[in-house]
Amino acid sequence: TRTPVNVTVTGAAGQIGYALLFRIASGHLLGADVPVKLRLLEIPQGVKAAEGTAMELDDCAFPLLKGIDIFDDPNQGFEGANVALLVGARPRTKGMERGDLLAANGGIFKPQGKAINDHAADDIKVLVVGNPANTNALIAQAAAPDVPAERFTAMTRLDHNRALSQLAAKTGTSVEDIKRLTIWGNHSATQYPDIFHAEIAGKNAAEVVNDEAWLADTFIPTVAKRGAAIIEARGASSAASAANAAIDHVHTWVNGTAAGDWTSMGIPSDGSYGVPEGLISSFPVTCANGTYEIVQGLEINDFSRTRIDASVAELAEERDAVRELGLI
Ligand code: NAI
Repeated sequence: TRTPVNVTVTGAAGQIGYALLFRIASGHLLGADVPVKLRLLEIPQGVKAAEGTAMELDDCAFPLLKGIDIFDDPNQGFEGANVALLVGARPRTKGMERGDLLAANGGIFKPQGKAINDHAADDIKVLVVGNPANTNALIAQAAAPDVPAERFTAMTRLDHNRALSQLAAKTGTSVEDIKRLTIWGNHSATQYPDIFHAEIAGKNAAEVVNDEAWLADTFIPTVAKRGAAIIEARGASSAASAANAAIDHVHTWVNGTAAGDWTSMGIPSDGSYGVPEGLISSFPVTCANGTYEIVQGLEINDFSRTRIDASVAELAEERDAVRELGLI
């Protein structure tokens, strides 16, 4: 029998946590034959609710779930972690300036990065979901000098999935017909969903759509502002779709991309496509054998260049702000 994989989830008592944990425990994160042990990390006020979720997890009698432990100390929460999903974050509240938001999250992600550095397993893979996800990932990564930087990733898979769904609806096709879509840049309103290299049933997606006004005025803003539209409609932020994207991100990272396709992940830049080295920015990546590689050699047209540059400039500003705050 296989040794269980230790999966640490922060913010376990939150709404994404509630949508995420049951799918991890039922085998969707790593595979239907991979046993898991859950390590739930919360703040002290969240521990009781996390215990309630753990009771429900017990009551599902998932064959793959080999244990649940709950912590309010990151050093314990990340002990032996093979996969860490950093979901818990400090949301922006009314009147909060960006600097306050970055500082508040630095207070979470810096110690968590240090705890990962000191206590996680050697093969640790980290996905940051909590916003601002890219910069929180950068803070955690900078606090973990002994962990290879590329193990720290940020989630843009929800944006990727949103773009797939919008593009399928526009073209009257099915999401599984669409390949090679890319989200570039920051998980924020400046992100750039790129269909110029995408294919729909083997044809170039931009040519199938053949409508640059739709791209600029409908598609891109719909994908980029989808989070706000969900809040407006649901009265709460996206949770099940965010949890689903986190599952997809890690599943693809561990189990690989399909031949001829790629996905989008926020990862430390190696300087590709003019994105300054070290920024955690979304790229097109292929995954195999538990590692990822940036898809190289794509031609970037002017329409795309302007938008990628704008989102990357925002990431550089966020990096400079957290540097000034002494968080990296
Ligand atoms: P929530 O407020 O329902 O839950 C957050 C949980 O995190 C709470 O239970 C809280 O006690 C816990 N928490 C706070 N600080 C913590 C710490 N230091 N250690 C451990 N736990 C801590 O929020 P929700 O809806 O679950 O969202 C979580 C985050 O995910 C938010 O930052 C949200 O903006 C982000 N998000 C990111 C998306 C993406 O595409 N990257 C999509 C949707 C949400």
